[in-house]
Amino acid sequence: MHRRVRGLVVVILALLIAAIAVVAGGVRWGHATPVGASTPVYLDPTQPVAARVSDLLGRMTLDEKVGQMTLVSVSTLRGNCQGGATGDLSTSCMAGILDNDRVGNVLSGGGEAPPQNTPQGWAEMTNAIQQYAVQHSRLHIPVLYGADGVHGDNNLLGATIFPHNIGMGASRDPALEQQVAASTARTMRATGVMWTFSPVSDVARDLRWGRYYETFGEDPMLVSAMVSAAVQGYQGKDLSTGVAATLKHFLGYSEPLNGHDRVFAELPLRYLRDTFYPSFQAGIDAGAASVMVNSGSIDGIPAHASHFLLTDTLRGQMGFTGFTVSDWGDVNALYTSYHLATSSRDAIRLAVLAGVDMAMVPYDAGTFTHDLISLVNDGSIPASRIDEAVRRILTVKFELGLFDHPTVDASQADKTVLGADRTVALQAAEESLTLLRNQHHVLPLAHPSSLVVAGSAASSIPDQMGGWTVGWQGIPGPPNPPAVTVLQGIEKTAPSGVKVRSVTSMNPRTVASAARAASITVVVAGEKPYAEGMGDTDTAALDPADTSVIDAVLAAHRPLVVVLVAGRPLISNSIAQRADAILMAWLPGTEGGTAVGQALFGQVDPGGRLPVSWPKDIGQAPIFYTAYPGTSSVATRPYDPLYPFGYGLSYTTFSDQSLSTRFIGSGQSTIGADVTVQNTGHAAGDDVVEVYVHPDASAVLQPPRKLIAFQRVHLAAGATTTVHLQIPSSRLAEVPGDIPGDQLLTVESGQYTFMAGSQTSTLTISQSTAVRR
Ligand code: BGC
Ligand code: BGC
Repeated sequence: MHRRVRGLVVVILALLIAAIAVVAGGVRWGHATPVGASTPVYLDPTQPVAARVSDLLGRMTLDEKVGQMTLVSVSTLRGNCQGGATGDLSTSCMAGILDNDRVGNVLSGGGEAPPQNTPQGWAEMTNAIQQYAVQHSRLHIPVLYGADGVHGDNNLLGATIFPHNIGMGASRDPALEQQVAASTARTMRATGVMWTFSPVSDVARDLRWGRYYETFGEDPMLVSAMVSAAVQGYQGKDLSTGVAATLKHFLGYSEPLNGHDRVFAELPLRYLRDTFYPSFQAGIDAGAASVMVNSGSIDGIPAHASHFLLTDTLRGQMGFTGFTVSDWGDVNALYTSYHLATSSRDAIRLAVLAGVDMAMVPYDAGTFTHDLISLVNDGSIPASRIDEAVRRILTVKFELGLFDHPTVDASQADKTVLGADRTVALQAAEESLTLLRNQHHVLPLAHPSSLVVAGSAASSIPDQMGGWTVGWQGIPGPPNPPAVTVLQGIEKTAPSGVKVRSVTSMNPRTVASAARAASITVVVAGEKPYAEGMGDTDTAALDPADTSVIDAVLAAHRPLVVVLVAGRPLISNSIAQRADAILMAWLPGTEGGTAVGQALFGQVDPGGRLPVSWPKDIGQAPIFYTAYPGTSSVATRPYDPLYPFGYGLSYTTFSDQSLSTRFIGSGQSTIGADVTVQNTGHAAGDDVVEVYVHPDASAVLQPPRKLIAFQRVHLAAGATTTVHLQIPSSRLAEVPGDIPGDQLLTVESGQYTFMAGSQTSTLTISQSTAVRR
């Protein structure tokens, strides 16, 4: 049947059933229905959410409750109902999954778009699912539809794509991240996708890992600030206008022992608490609705089976009240991969008792629901545990307004989504640009008479978008979403009279001869898109074809600017010593080309700062600036990168930062730090004010410096500013005690040295105080 005709049939059927329900005096639903004395509490929008949830829960059967704990891939609702199926929604698949198995939640995994991948196509698809679910479930419970919106609504072809998180980390601009997230939420909500599997709250540690670019960086405080902003942007004030955010992947996902995705990690408790708790705590404090669990294991325990992580820590210590969701197939993995459980059914028991509220099954819903029901019936899982999980999930559905407005106005979707917030995307791309090298001030380009643009990423929309764009592993093929390539960006920002010549050939000789005839050559080099384990690397090497082109231009002794389009630092010592300039563009998204063009020609100052450490060699991984000191050894240093965390040049010059610190308010719970900086150059530019700390003596090892506050500032040429930072003293806390690392997090008494630029200042904490966690 034609998609539209089938959609119409579904709608007509739905209306007929609704009419019958109303005539038969059945429960009414939907916003169009007047609320009367007979309206159940849960359908009354004027009642508080908690009362609505309790009322509904009291009416539900065990089967219905278990369905709410189930999340399936949308592929199971279409074609032949098998996982991975494409095509139109099928009424019989929906009957099986939504009706029989009473499944309450549906997701689009990477690339799982409707056949008509447009905003309207998405809205019509989610509407059809909602209509089916609301009509066919006895209690008219809407579905929660989720998808990965990790840099914009990235499965949607035509949605504005923002820089991946690693670039947002370089921007050092949480307020901008909040705008990016709010824009993503508007797009997702307009298409009926009410739940985003974002923000990634993992802390970058090991660039061999294929998901490095999905993080905001290596520093827990930086990541915390960005995560908190993202949650606020996604969710809005109270979820009724935003989408539900997901902090992922809880916990310790990003430092697998061998650098590979979804393998084991050996992270001691102290390190977990110092490094991985803070960003999740920040997201929880910002009100995140859900948390997704880490697919890997820590210290021999898969996170999905860890009561310590999912219940004692997440609930008991961190105070999380939303719901937890497994990652892709990871409940069953406790049996099939980890052999911790003796059967699929036993795996469900382990996960649910550990604290998994919802399973991303994602394909075989029937087995999951059947087994979970039987586990409750035979007493293996208490009914109260089911109620607890379902209460959390329903609360989010009510808060999102799904019971009152289960569908969206599909006719408005294109208008809301297409071309939206391109200026935010441009600003984000601009602020993320990080200038690594600029010999003899070759940048900004002073009116060159002719310029050659070459390299594998110069005209590649897929490369500048990265993974998780349209498809899971990046854009799978034409059509490309609208975007400005680097070449186009250079062409449109080049001052008139500058001849821009594009060399698409990757033949080094061809590029070198073009370079010989031009005043300057820009090689745009990088990585091909990837996601998850497919992006793991043992080399982090520059594309060999790009390397040959770069070498050829250098051999021709021509001025060379290298623009890197990549999700991780690439091992690039030889260019770092020989190219005239290197600009790191990260994975800058839709407006990436405009941003690069503007930076090259000096219309913006590339003021990003490295959110991660840039190693000299892959053998330095894992590398991060918070390495602990060691004892002296002839050849080794604990931290010796090519470019350190926080590094980034500018077109202008800034004075050293001056710093003064004091306690503010009563007691010693807040530190006030005033940092002054001046733009001493001749151009406007952005600097980042940063305050680091080091205790003069401590009970356990501390890194030589640890970031506790930062702020990006824009300064006109000659201008001076003083930034007043208020820093909770709890940022000085450490986990004291011997190796188990299980004592209370404590701000130890003693003197602390604060650092900004090369300036220092000290404060003394007079009394040790335990803080949360
Ligand atoms: C990833 C998650 C993602 C999920 C749904 C998993 O493979 O690990 O980050 O949210 O798929 O696409
Ligand atoms: C899905 C992704 C998911 C991955 C897990 C893919 O088929 O599209 O979203 O993360 O499988 O391995």
